Amino acid sequence: MIGVSVIGAGFWARQMHLPALAQLPGVRITSVVATSPESAQRAAAPYDEAQALTDIAEAAADPDTHVLDIVAPPDVHLPAVEIAAAHGKHAICIKPLARDLDEADRMLEAVDEAGTRLFYAENVPFIPALQEARQLVDAGDIGTVFRVKACEGIGEPHSPWFFDPDRSGGGAILDMAVHSLEFCRFFAKAPITAVYAEAGTFVHHDRTTAEDTAVLTLRFANGVIGQCEDSWSLQGAMDSRFEVFGTEGRILVDNLHRQPLQVVNARAGWSYPMPIAGLVADGHLAMLGHFLDCLRSGAPSLSDGHVGRDVLAVVDAAYRSVASGRREEIKETTR
Ligand SMILES: NC(=O)c1ccc[n+]([C@@H]2O[C@H](COP(=O)([O-])OP(=O)(O)OC[C@H]3O[C@@H](n4cnc5c(N)ncnc54)[C@H](O)[C@@H]3O)[C@@H](O)[C@H]2O)c1
Repeated sequence: MIGVSVIGAGFWARQMHLPALAQLPGVRITSVVATSPESAQRAAAPYDEAQALTDIAEAAADPDTHVLDIVAPPDVHLPAVEIAAAHGKHAICIKPLARDLDEADRMLEAVDEAGTRLFYAENVPFIPALQEARQLVDAGDIGTVFRVKACEGIGEPHSPWFFDPDRSGGGAILDMAVHSLEFCRFFAKAPITAVYAEAGTFVHHDRTTAEDTAVLTLRFANGVIGQCEDSWSLQGAMDSRFEVFGTEGRILVDNLHRQPLQVVNARAGWSYPMPIAGLVADGHLAMLGHFLDCLRSGAPSLSDGHVGRDVLAVVDAAYRSVASGRREEIKETTR
């Protein structure tokens, strides 16, 4: 039995990670940690035996806990991974891996020194429709891939910390483009070498200095061109589309298309009553199952901490490009 403590009891922990972990065989949710005891209790209540805690170190010290699943804001990611490593526990860290490259490197150093593992919880490569698309590409169905494109948009983030760059680390580039970049990397199958980015704050300028809108163009080492359109400025709506262009065809995955009913109103904003559970359709169940299988077997992961670090290296170059107005090279990975 693998004991998992979930760090964070907010939207994503309650909506995705806790229900997914509860469905996986051989897993026990040992505790839920939040800043307030009440929210930890509310989130832990549906899961038998799960303690409600407010101290990450207390969760990590529990001998029945083997993994910390970190689903808290980005300013918590580095300290939580360091605490996990100091207690000899593995860590799963939600996207973005960290607020910047320096933090990501410190996380990788901490787990290297402790001999523990760090998994990067980015669901995009685990989306069943994209797994299917990848098989079609690998089978040669659309010829040679030369262009990839992703659009990830929402109207606004749901918690105040997203608007505070000190806590979040950035705006739509860090929060949303990390998904688009991982899609592009998954299909271009080569490192990104350069990025040109345009970004601005058009809708939420009274709430944040962070960008709410960004367009990135990418060049990969194998010549493939990539394009990412990412925003917090898609008023009243949501977008999640992925395209792969090959010399003999094109694949489009509209990841919201499985939702035939879209409701937008002034009271609740947008909602997509879900005919297929997001846990499955968005790959979260498969992703967490994969991480736990890797821990049991010792196999390498499709999405370890270095993947999260590689994505942050592109985010770093994108922010440099916004500042310089020029195309920027990607900094080498640590390994
Ligand atoms: N598709 C995705 O993969 C996806 C979607 C949404 C959010 N996220 C990510 O999940 C993370 C959390 O986002 P959210 O939407 O759940 O935020 P949220 O504001 O809804 O919840 C944040 C939670 O973190 C807890 N927390 C804050 N500081 C803490 C600390 N020091 N120790 C313990 N708990 C602490 C809070 O108590 C709260 O329960 C972010 O990194 C976000 O980018 C990922």
